[in-house]
Amino acid sequence: MPQDSAALRSQLSPLLRESPFLKACRREPVEVTPVWLMRQAGRYMPEYRAIRARHSFLELCKRPDLATEVTVHAAEALGVDAAILFADILLILEPLGLQLDFTKGEGPVIRNPLRSATDVDRVLRLDDLSPLGFVFEAVRGIRAALKASIPLIGFAGAPYTLACYAIEGGSSRHYVSAKTFMYRDPSAWNELMSILVDATVRYLNAQVEAGVQAVQIFDSWVGNLAPADYRRFVLPHMTELFARLDPAVPSIHFGTDTGALLELQKAAGGSVIGIDWRSELELVRRRLGPEVAVQGNLDPVVLFAPLSEIERQVERILREAGPAPGHIFNLGHGILPHTPVEHVAALVSMVHEKSLKSRS
Ligand code: CP3
Repeated sequence: MPQDSAALRSQLSPLLRESPFLKACRREPVEVTPVWLMRQAGRYMPEYRAIRARHSFLELCKRPDLATEVTVHAAEALGVDAAILFADILLILEPLGLQLDFTKGEGPVIRNPLRSATDVDRVLRLDDLSPLGFVFEAVRGIRAALKASIPLIGFAGAPYTLACYAIEGGSSRHYVSAKTFMYRDPSAWNELMSILVDATVRYLNAQVEAGVQAVQIFDSWVGNLAPADYRRFVLPHMTELFARLDPAVPSIHFGTDTGALLELQKAAGGSVIGIDWRSELELVRRRLGPEVAVQGNLDPVVLFAPLSEIERQVERILREAGPAPGHIFNLGHGILPHTPVEHVAALVSMVHEKSLKSRS
């Protein structure tokens, strides 16, 4: 842990400490339900596309001035209750010795994927965080440029999701290589997961030191695992990860297609559990109990629908989240390219207006 928790807590300005987002993370009552959106800075925004026309995606991630501009612009244009650092979960793989590229149409590609147990021997340890210094510089730049009342969320990929990319070499439909590796060679798998946990803990705690107020752990692809396999191959590693994060900083534990894994994810850790649209918040809250907050869970495709439909679904989600404290409104997964920007801004206003009305 970088500093003791009490010191970190006292560093928070009252404006940040009392922000609706951080209050909801701590399960304190709020007047208005806080809302932010995964991938709120991205290709659906013309200002983002204008910058992307001049710079590659990796360049954008590695230029703190540009990362600051797109992060702050998105947060302010939408009127959301939190900003999320502009970066990518796969950046951490480069200093571990994996060659990362983003190719047009194909998405992320790892040029030297891990295919056998012996390949794990060439994975480097993240003893020195300086190759990721651009991320911490972006955090400082964003924190300085962002309104003083808006919390900044840092993030990292969860070890399972990172291992999937490192082994498959890119996106995959069935994760045959990654899962086969896991079943065939559990000890090499555990070694790889331990390296990823250690790197991720250092990386997230350094983001906290640089100035983020919360962290989200993206286990985007964990929903393809059977609960028994999650328990064997992932749970011990996620438990260690959460135990080593600074307890003063709220953590959001996110995955998709996790309807069968939610209790196990809660057991692993996180002050907030991210829920996709395939589950109903009312049932989820009953299953998870009052000890954790929840985040979600509008289907990102609903943002393509007419405003009347978006309104109906916002009302439904606020109703399903119920009156208990500890709900952060978000999508169930990231905003899709081509989403109408006006609909995203309208969604944010609807969440604020309707949640305020329901509490008065
Ligand atoms: O949410 C935000 O606004 C912050 C920035 C952010 C990005 N990626 C920017 C990005 C965050 C939090 C991520 C996380 C991320 N990256 C995840 C987990 C979230 C999820 O979607 O489940 C994953 C799996 C990745 C890996 C990744 N990065 C993929 C599979 C792709 C290609 C698919 C796509 O949407 O293009 C990316 C590229 C990427 N990451 C873009 C952005 C804005 C698009 C790049 C471009 O401009 O072309």
